[in-house]
Amino acid sequence: MATSSVQRVAVYPGTFDPLTNGHVDIIQRGALLFDRIVVTILNNPSKSPLFNVNERLEMARAVFKSQSNVEIDTFDGLLVEFVRRRKASVIVPGLRAISDFENEMQMALMNRRLHSDIETVFMMPAESYTYLSSRLVKEIFALGGSVRGLVPDLIESHLTAKATGNGGLNV
Ligand code: PNS
Repeated sequence: MATSSVQRVAVYPGTFDPLTNGHVDIIQRGALLFDRIVVTILNNPSKSPLFNVNERLEMARAVFKSQSNVEIDTFDGLLVEFVRRRKASVIVPGLRAISDFENEMQMALMNRRLHSDIETVFMMPAESYTYLSSRLVKEIFALGGSVRGLVPDLIESHLTAKATGNGGLNV
């Protein structure tokens, strides 16, 4: 059987404010399926994120520092333009529940219309993460609940640092 030297590069886009264990689960599955997975963080200050884009970039890089085929980057503008710039061929949105599907399919078909050579491959996290979202993590944390097990330990430490006003990053 002929082997191909073509690298299969996938892009996993999102806001990641903050990165959750559901995101980590999808990234790890993607890293097994593709030669390289580029996690790209949308730089959209109008969303008033808890962590600015550089903080999110540094934290995600720290979480995946020992995984050589996982790369973290940021983007603004059209996702498909980023995908082309990075010479990737696949977008991997994470699907938690059927309710995610309508919006994700709409974006996938619109992205295909913009660039027909880019495919979207939906990936599902482990069942235990299907109800997890960055929004709920922030809400639980802000109300004093525990987010242990919902986010990587490093992210939990940075949430605590933000809450105590000691938000400087030392990842
Ligand atoms: O984590 P999120 O907020 O659900 O991620 C949404 C994201 C970043 C994947 C989506 O908003 C996006 O792709 N934005 C880039 C702008 C773009 O390409 N828009 C056209 C999509 S059809």
